[in-house]
Amino acid sequence: MNYYVTTPIYYVNAKPHLGHAYTTIVNDVLTRFHRLDGYDSYFLTGTDEHGDKIVRAAQAEGRGPGEYADEISALFKAAWPGLSISNDDFIRTTEERHKTVVSRFMDLVNRRGDIYFGEYGGHYCFGCERFYTEKELVDGLCPDHGVKPEYIAEKNYFFRMGNYQDWLIDHVRSNPDFIRPERYRNEVLGFLKEPLEDLCISRPKSRLTWGIDIPFDDNFVTYVWFDALINYISALGWPDGELFHRYWPVAQHTIAKDILKPHAIFWPTMLRSAGQPIYRHLNVHGYWQIGLSKMSKSVGNVVEALAMAGKYGTDAFRYFLMREMTFGLDSEFSEDRLIERHDSDLANDLGNLWSRSLAMIQKFNGGLIPPPDTLEPQPDEPEWRGRAEDLVSAWRLAFDSVNPRGALTAIWEYVGALNKAIDSEAPWALAKDPAKAPRLKAVLARLAEGLALVSALFWPVMPGTAEAMWGRLGLGAGDMTTDPAAIRAMLARGRRPTAGEAFFPRIEDRDRKEPKPPKAAKPAETPAPAAKPGAAPAPEGMVTFDEFKRLDLRVARVEAAERVPKSDKLVKLTLSLGDSRRTVLAGIGKHFEPADLVGRSVVIVANLVPAKLMGQLSHGMVLAATDGGELALVGPSGEIAPGSKVS
Ligand code: MSP
Repeated sequence: MNYYVTTPIYYVNAKPHLGHAYTTIVNDVLTRFHRLDGYDSYFLTGTDEHGDKIVRAAQAEGRGPGEYADEISALFKAAWPGLSISNDDFIRTTEERHKTVVSRFMDLVNRRGDIYFGEYGGHYCFGCERFYTEKELVDGLCPDHGVKPEYIAEKNYFFRMGNYQDWLIDHVRSNPDFIRPERYRNEVLGFLKEPLEDLCISRPKSRLTWGIDIPFDDNFVTYVWFDALINYISALGWPDGELFHRYWPVAQHTIAKDILKPHAIFWPTMLRSAGQPIYRHLNVHGYWQIGLSKMSKSVGNVVEALAMAGKYGTDAFRYFLMREMTFGLDSEFSEDRLIERHDSDLANDLGNLWSRSLAMIQKFNGGLIPPPDTLEPQPDEPEWRGRAEDLVSAWRLAFDSVNPRGALTAIWEYVGALNKAIDSEAPWALAKDPAKAPRLKAVLARLAEGLALVSALFWPVMPGTAEAMWGRLGLGAGDMTTDPAAIRAMLARGRRPTAGEAFFPRIEDRDRKEPKPPKAAKPAETPAPAAKPGAAPAPEGMVTFDEFKRLDLRVARVEAAERVPKSDKLVKLTLSLGDSRRTVLAGIGKHFEPADLVGRSVVIVANLVPAKLMGQLSHGMVLAATDGGELALVGPSGEIAPGSKVS
């Protein structure tokens, strides 16, 4: 069984940030999952170094593109080990091995008769490295960068992408998981409803020399996207390389939604034209946002991934990213949320399970994991043991369908069950009754098994912690397995866990001294202020400052959203205000899909008298702006904790 996964190759016009780190970590997690599950796996990342964008970034620093690309590419390459990324290769598009493959590939497409020379005039956005049609511009501006594109008319080479449109539609339709999750598959089928325009695949050297020469015309270089996509096979030594034969048939690409079209449309049609098999899956995720806008260098809200990992630990950072984002949807990044997750899931749930279990093994069995008399289940077995097999199936299913959050949720439900089992079994009470000694031993042994299993299951996400836990249980480094029976057999040989530092000391206790944001006032409890003696009443149509101050406006984060049955307008939102949660019904269903709201920060009137709408109670009101047609939610422009007061 083979597995091959790739990240986008990142532009070298900006340093690595959280967005790049997320895609790369997802791929690392998927690769590790496959390795653990016995696959022969290969994981590729790298940098995309040609084109106008890079030339301009280099120029802005008074540098040549080559030396500039060397420097930034090295930053990417150096960033990944610090995030426990275990890529097998790192490709740069300026390497000879890539350039020769691009020329060869382009020759092949040309020989198929799919390339022609023609004139084209269009609105060119340098940020996107592409032409836009009038129709695609928004108020004459690039829809992504908000800048006015330059009108450029020139002769160029074109790829007849439209030749493969019907084939592609058919392929997407007959392979439901070719593009996943489904929302992006639908988006692609939507693009494909319009006739595909031919793709301009060259740039005249009179305008740009920083690119790969077109093999059949010295006056042109290759369009950067045509060059870049080919990295996925040049790194495997296409067409004859051993790696190509081994891994290309199972290739998967992981990207964010910004580059869906080149991957879902340009790339398969290019491969088809060159007579090559196409990749298996395109895994598409959403954006990390800060205050409702996509995190990006141009917006200036970039979170330095390495700084976060350094501050909270690589494993905790990886855990947060994988647990917080539903693959495919946008998520809001907030440091407070990271701390919350760290303290509740890692320090409390996992850390306590570990320290309680080990303390009890120490106290009640002299530090030895009790070997069971037999490996067969006993009549006196704690009943939670049987759930281990179900957990492993759920874990496998979640990772197989690119759902790291689902895999972690399943693991943490089990961690919760083990913690509950300690409370209900009460080993300290069993220890008082010699007749209950077998039960006590069974409970301690099953806790150790549970911890070993859990650590192996979260190894893809938190490899450092998993290996340390596994080792501290007395298990061999090369023996990690997710097979509950095998774990049981290994522990039956009588292992002695070793003591060590706590795995995830609480951050709140460690370095957060500042008080939490105040609790939201309960609705309808705010008393009307006594009129200040002598205070002037507000003129007609206005409010005094004191009256305004009676409104309790708060930032809230949408934790869950669903439509209210039988209403096309009402959406039921579960909102977090930091310390508390509440339900608010909002009349925004015609403008938003509930799933798109999850993770957003909104502003609410928190002390509105609760009202019943369609039979359900709403505790507050979400603020939104409307021009009569469009509706936009009001939200904070920067990162701010839920529950923060708006004034
Ligand atoms: N060079 C092209 C890709 C060519 S692939 C043949 C490119 N590079 S990029 O540097 O702009 O990287 C884009 C990718 O970075 C996204 O698709 C995503 O993987 C990651 N992200 C960048 N910002 C992101 C967020 N704010 N959120 C999530 N992922 C983001 O496009």
